[in-house]
Amino acid sequence: MILSLFELVNVLFLFGDAFTQPILTVSPNNVILYGDAVTSTATPSYVTIECRMQSMSAREVYSVYIKRFAQDLAEVSLLNGQSMSKISDLAPNDVRTKNPEISGSVGSSSDWFLRIRYLQSRMDCADGATYHCRVTYKPNSGDTTTTNVSSTLSVSVRPGNLQILALRVVGVSNSIQVDNNSLVQRGEQLELTCNGNTGQSSGNIIEWFKMTSSTGYQILLSSGEDTVDDGNPAGISVGSPPTICHYQRTSRLRYLVKTNDNSLSFRCEVAVAQPTTYKAFSQEFMFRFDGRLISTCTVHRLSIVVILLSGIATWSI
Ligand SMILES: *[C@@H]1O[C@H](CO)[C@@H](O)[C@H](O)[C@H]1NC(C)=O
Ligand SMILES: *[C@@H]1O[C@H](CO)[C@@H](O)[C@H](O)[C@H]1NC(C)=O
Repeated sequence: MILSLFELVNVLFLFGDAFTQPILTVSPNNVILYGDAVTSTATPSYVTIECRMQSMSAREVYSVYIKRFAQDLAEVSLLNGQSMSKISDLAPNDVRTKNPEISGSVGSSSDWFLRIRYLQSRMDCADGATYHCRVTYKPNSGDTTTTNVSSTLSVSVRPGNLQILALRVVGVSNSIQVDNNSLVQRGEQLELTCNGNTGQSSGNIIEWFKMTSSTGYQILLSSGEDTVDDGNPAGISVGSPPTICHYQRTSRLRYLVKTNDNSLSFRCEVAVAQPTTYKAFSQEFMFRFDGRLISTCTVHRLSIVVILLSGIATWSI
């Protein structure tokens, strides 16, 4: 292969450029939060953001700065001939409270770097950002120059912490909270609520599952007497930088205990496909039966009374 003079000059230029550029590494470059906290795989695990200037690519390095988006984070510069590394005076508050370890070295030593290290358990969505490193140095030939490079840390939030509660509906506007493993009667109206973190997307919904001894877990869709109210997503913090980056939702299931229900338990679930398939479950909420049956006739009469009562209520308002 014969390179034209133009291409050759280009290749040499690119190589030379790559050689003098600092290198910014973010490791790992993907962090997963469960709700507000990281569940780390190794202990203790860190996220390291390190900017390094290759030895021989400069005569002397004067300063290195690392920014998160446009905000100063950390810096190292010379003070009375000594390297001094620190959190930048203008660093955002959340960075200080995460208590990062900062180290760095500049000068003529040729070990030029600036490193920020966070405990993974301290990370939040504000840290999912593009980081910039700016290096001011004296090249091997020519005048003092400043160059910067960037690298990205992605932070994703998984759903979780789904809490399930149950109520026994005893009237139009009257319900009583029931404990797990309570007795239930056929024909009774239950209202279950599930509240929790539904992840990063406002579109993620809570799904309800019913367990019966014969069929195992079956998804419950809004149909017939049983209804699901998805509730509205809320909770993403809009602060700058935001430190809560998941939605919170409350879903309500109204379930009429069937005459052929002989075992009953429920759980709610949020499933997400991004960045990888993940499912969060609540604990199982269980009911026991006392063996007695409410006749369907009584149930119908009850609902007629309820309808009449609500009619009167509406009329009298
Ligand atoms: C250099 O840093 C600034 C922020 O200080 C940023 O806006 C700019 O895009 C960076 N340039 C490169 C090449 O990373
Ligand atoms: C209900 O009790 C069962 C054990 O009987 C338990 O496995 C389940 O986690 C409990 N559910 C809740 C919501 O506390």
